Amino acid sequence: MTPVIQIADIANYDGQTVTIRGWLYNSTHKGKLIFLQIRDGTGIVQCVLFQREAPPEIFEAALNLTQESSLTVTGLARADERAPGIPGKFEIGVKDLHVIQLAEPYPIQPKEHGIEFLMDHRHLWVRSSRQWAILRVRATIIKTIRDWLDAHGYLLVDTPIISPAAGEETTTLFGIDYFGAQAYLAQTGQLYNEANIAAFGKVYCFGPTFRAEKSKTRRHLSEFWMCEPEMAFFTLEDLMAMEEAFISYIIQTTLQERREELEMIGRDVTRLQNVTPPFPRISYDDALDLLKQRREETDDPEQKALLEMTWGTDFGSPHETAIAESFDKPVFVYHYPSAAKAFYMTPVEGRPEVCRSVDLLAPEGYGEITGGSERIFDVELLEQRVAEIGLPREAYAWYLDLRRFGGVPHAGFGLGLERMVAWVCGLSHIREAVPYPRTLTRLYP
Ligand code: 4AD
Ligand code: MG
Repeated sequence: MTPVIQIADIANYDGQTVTIRGWLYNSTHKGKLIFLQIRDGTGIVQCVLFQREAPPEIFEAALNLTQESSLTVTGLARADERAPGIPGKFEIGVKDLHVIQLAEPYPIQPKEHGIEFLMDHRHLWVRSSRQWAILRVRATIIKTIRDWLDAHGYLLVDTPIISPAAGEETTTLFGIDYFGAQAYLAQTGQLYNEANIAAFGKVYCFGPTFRAEKSKTRRHLSEFWMCEPEMAFFTLEDLMAMEEAFISYIIQTTLQERREELEMIGRDVTRLQNVTPPFPRISYDDALDLLKQRREETDDPEQKALLEMTWGTDFGSPHETAIAESFDKPVFVYHYPSAAKAFYMTPVEGRPEVCRSVDLLAPEGYGEITGGSERIFDVELLEQRVAEIGLPREAYAWYLDLRRFGGVPHAGFGLGLERMVAWVCGLSHIREAVPYPRTLTRLYP
């Protein structure tokens, strides 16, 4: 029996007859010679047919193959230094070929297409080698995230997607009808994590989260994946130390395990190699001074205007980019104005207008990668915040309970998966970092 193999494993079959099953990525023929580039999901291999060696009906079938037709090919696997492909350096001398489905004219051609066209054909575009590479990097980032947390005593505890109340800003809620009652898609799993730490100490949730973001930016999706660690007894300083170890591990491991894919994407990884602890830390106030300095340095009036900033507001992308570009590593910005952040963040003692929060800003214009804080654990203060913000108290009764039955200081953060993928892959827009993006203007396919 001829072994059915995966292209990724072809080096183990040098000199043997093998069968592969997949799709025709590309083909070229030069007179009596046909080259088929066949992919099977694990790689791409060059398959060669000589007219004088191949049975005529097989040669004919190969000649008539259309792009993305599905097929099986049996032939001799042999090493060839020049053979293109992934992993490459091997080709298959075709002995037999069976067409499963002859594809109709394929909409995606090796020429340039506009992004909207490609996104309309996302269900087919994921087969293209660049998209294939990005989504493999994504899978590895997910795995490294879980590996690190699992190895460091964090328990994965899932949190609900259908929620009775807001977890973040009430302006970005997706409402749903829940058997006649008002419910929302989860913006975060954090509030449930805060319950779970009293049961498990250190936990994380990792799932899809939803924001009705009305802005069209290259950093926002309406559905994105977030990994949220939450830790009992952690301070803001503990949080930063943990984050820098965690993020560095994710980056360095992904660089090792997905070197080929990052090369395919054309990512210059020099600056990523630099992502090792410790990361610089600056306060929000110092970040504002830094922006002022950048404004003074530039002669470009447009840039000057973009970097304008008043104390009390959160940063926009131009601010984040300018701050991050002042450092050679990701930078922690801590102690944001309380008014610009979520209701649950602990005010700084003696200066309640700022809170014990920290965002991690990535270099190269990727902006806020994580957002986190120490959480208010004093029941009266939290009651007061819930009232101030105008949140319905009944919906938060259980959350307030946590401060009544063994409340402890605690902290946590959320890591935006697609922001991380976009950064690691060097993507100009976050929509390529997720298999099927959901944005203000896209719900198809
Ligand atoms: O800063 P955010 O809104 O924080 C929270 O939701 C907290 N409850 C997390 C926590 O403390 N457990 O979101 C966290 C991260 C951001 O830093 C960003 O990376 C990503 O989630 N993010 C988005 N990514 C893509 N599209 C959006 N619309 C995003 N909004 C936030
Ligand atoms: Mg944030």
